[in-house]
Amino acid sequence: MHEKGCGETPRHIAIIMDGNGRWARERLRGRSEGHAEGVNSVHSITKAASDLGVKYLTLYAFSTENWNRPAAEVDTLMHLIGSAIRKETPELVTNNVHINLLGDIDRLPAEVHADLEAGRKATEHCDGLNLNLCLSYSSRWELTEAVRRIAAEAKEGTLAPEDIDEQTIDSHLATAGMPDPDLLIRTGGELRISNFLLWQIAYSELYFTPVLWPDFGPSHLIDAIDVFRNRERRFGKTSEQVKNESIL
Ligand code: FPP
Repeated sequence: MHEKGCGETPRHIAIIMDGNGRWARERLRGRSEGHAEGVNSVHSITKAASDLGVKYLTLYAFSTENWNRPAAEVDTLMHLIGSAIRKETPELVTNNVHINLLGDIDRLPAEVHADLEAGRKATEHCDGLNLNLCLSYSSRWELTEAVRRIAAEAKEGTLAPEDIDEQTIDSHLATAGMPDPDLLIRTGGELRISNFLLWQIAYSELYFTPVLWPDFGPSHLIDAIDVFRNRERRFGKTSEQVKNESIL
């Protein structure tokens, strides 16, 4: 008798952290207070993912579209991200967490860019959890950049168009060299992907929860992982094929 689910801990979890604004509004507090609470969740979820043996945690911290928010909110978010990275870096090093920056990082204010770069550099040698911070990131931006670089290589003559395959595209994305997310979590109750990792989530398991990001803690992460473990991942094959492969 075989279990239906894959039973494994996801190697790569991606999270759309949503609901900071609503969390604050429910408490008659300003949106920036919701974002500040959201940073606490980033701390506890990163620690929990590391303790659970997750290898990659990819967080959608600031999207390309978030630049269109009111300037004061963008400033708050930038300030929070910069100060969080400064404050958290020593503990990330202690916990062997390796920071990767994904997105159009050059668009960030110079001092935030410098804080992030310092955090990335300080954790470069760490080989535990990979913490991917997506900042000024959107999937269409990433794919456009990839196509531009592939076209440039074709023009230079270093890449033949007929040799372009899925691996070529993978290797030109911000996630080059990383496994695709096994599990994508979205908090805050909305049922959409919002321009996040469109290529990479082709076969990810999706998990939507109404829990607002500031309320999302380690026990919620464990619930999501339990649901994942009970899913049967078929990657286009039949259930019978998957079961036979698990016997071998
Ligand atoms: C969505 O909530 C959340 C964001 C746009 C920002 C998430 C960023 C953080 C939690 C800070 C990240 C910090 C680090 C160090 C990575 P929302 O404002 O869209 O909420 P709403 O949908 O309820 O209005």
